[in-house]
Amino acid sequence: MTRLSHRPRRLRQSAAVRRLVAETRLHPADLVLPVFVREGIDAPEPIEAMPGVVQHTLDSLVEEARRCVEAGLGGIMVFGVPTDDHKDAVGSHADAADGILNVALRAVRDAVGDDLVVMSDLCLDEFTDHGHCGVLDDEGRVDNDATLERYAAMGLAQARAGAHVLGLSGMMDGQVGYVREALDEAGFTDTIVLAYAAKYTSALYGPFREAVQSSLQGDRATYQQDPANAVEAQREIELDLAEGADMVMVKPAQPHLDIIALAAEISTVPVAAYQISGEYAQIKAAAERGWIDGDRAVMESLLHIKRAGAQVILTYSALDVAPHL
Ligand code: PBG
Repeated sequence: MTRLSHRPRRLRQSAAVRRLVAETRLHPADLVLPVFVREGIDAPEPIEAMPGVVQHTLDSLVEEARRCVEAGLGGIMVFGVPTDDHKDAVGSHADAADGILNVALRAVRDAVGDDLVVMSDLCLDEFTDHGHCGVLDDEGRVDNDATLERYAAMGLAQARAGAHVLGLSGMMDGQVGYVREALDEAGFTDTIVLAYAAKYTSALYGPFREAVQSSLQGDRATYQQDPANAVEAQREIELDLAEGADMVMVKPAQPHLDIIALAAEISTVPVAAYQISGEYAQIKAAAERGWIDGDRAVMESLLHIKRAGAQVILTYSALDVAPHL
């Protein structure tokens, strides 16, 4: 026998030993399920580019929320899909009390109470006829400061509808401070702000565009971050912390593990990461072809995201993996 002073393999010899020394464990409470609710449909509608994910009716959404409670998930993140005639240049239905997202938030909150954290997407893109996350100026550019007013109105509508957490995903400058102030002035001091602090522009949002029937032409490169940049992410995170963010998020997740690690290091509030539609679709597509083991790939991906430093993970696989954790 060769004399070796160190044998790291000793701690890998059985599943029991590996379990004992595992540094990272996933728990259902770490996970948040993003869900889509579509106005004007009678039955759930499959999303082709996201096998296993559907656009919900109000009723099926409420059932899904109850399943999240039973599975012990950390939360649910609700996205609204309005009918085409409920989209306009300023996204009026985003803050209308009878807008699909606000109606859905109220239904989910009434069903789950405080047993599940109810989160809302706070962004205009699903509600604008041009598909951008903000309102446009005369030249067709996204108008930052005019958009902030729309976000404040949307935030108040969502808080009134019962959302515990507002997910500010539009990447407008100053959005966290602006919405925080509007909430506080209206007495919603307990409403939690989750800042999509480092949100990168990405081709991997593709399947989501189908999920919300986005009207977008072009891209979001003038407001979402350039994937080339990391120092810029630090700046975005620091600004959101200074503006009062209660949680900060990095998105997409697995392509930006370095940024998640950076966020975990510099953030004094919990760090979340969003495993987006294209990350989900890539795994599903390869698994459908039999090229990879989909269940293992999903579990690995979530472990990587948590190991990098994310305390909260948004994933379309939340309900699928929870029973195995
Ligand atoms: C903005 C928003 C988007 C996603 C979450 N919030 C779309 C975008 O930024 O283009 C994408 C989520 C995903 O791809 O799973 N409303």
